[in-house]
Amino acid sequence: MDEDTSQLEPSRLGTKTHWDSVYSRELSNFIDTGDEGEIWFGEEVVEKMVNWALDHISPISRPYILEIGAGNGTLLFALLEAGFESTRAVGIDYSADAVRLARAIAERRGLSGVLLLECNFLSQSPPKCSGQEQEWDLLLDKGTYDAIALGEKDRQGISPAVGYPARAAALLNPGGFFLITSCNFTEDELKQTFATPATGLLYHSRVSHPSIRFGGKTGSMYTTMAFQKPHLAP
Ligand SMILES: C[S@@+](CC[C@H](N)C(=O)[O-])C[C@H]1O[C@@H](n2cnc3c(N)ncnc32)[C@H](O)[C@@H]1O
Repeated sequence: MDEDTSQLEPSRLGTKTHWDSVYSRELSNFIDTGDEGEIWFGEEVVEKMVNWALDHISPISRPYILEIGAGNGTLLFALLEAGFESTRAVGIDYSADAVRLARAIAERRGLSGVLLLECNFLSQSPPKCSGQEQEWDLLLDKGTYDAIALGEKDRQGISPAVGYPARAAALLNPGGFFLITSCNFTEDELKQTFATPATGLLYHSRVSHPSIRFGGKTGSMYTTMAFQKPHLAP
């Protein structure tokens, strides 16, 4: 069992009821005012994740991209607007109104072809793109693992987040990347959770964020890291 994820106390941010009410409100706002809703962690984090992707994966290689817990789709749409192919991109979320909101935003931005679907990452297999035979080349997570780690523990005290790393790793093609931004976990904690013999993932790189000083300690508000599934031996 992963120790770090089990240490977080459950909160409403780890419940589907919370996200359903957030996106029901954001969907109504979008319909009334055209506001796309909250950009989780802010625009700079989105920009840094997109730049990381552009630096390490060429859009010309036509990667298959899956965002886990895509919310209003801001990150996925930023990648598509940066040149990645919409017919090879899928965003899943377990909140139906998040999916409705993301679809409405995609339509307004003229991003056709991207699949946005209701799916619980912990219990369902994400749908694939039309014609996709292999797994994914890039998995994205911005705040979803954080939310899952705040979910209610089971009777044995095990966090729902414990199953996440292996599920994510199994969805990657050899050579594929998992790019995550968290506000709850440090770099060491993410490494301990995702770069393990059980996942087979290796730490690849990190993205710097401005550091803050709080309580005599210096750290970043966000952690963005990339892990890679090793290429198959020739
Ligand atoms: C902090 S929000 C981030 C949303 C989006 N990634 C963004 O950056 O705007 C967490 C998201 O994870 C989704 N989520 C939480 N648990 C999930 C699960 N088990 N399966 C799919 N989506 C989940 C929530 O509905 C919510 O959209």
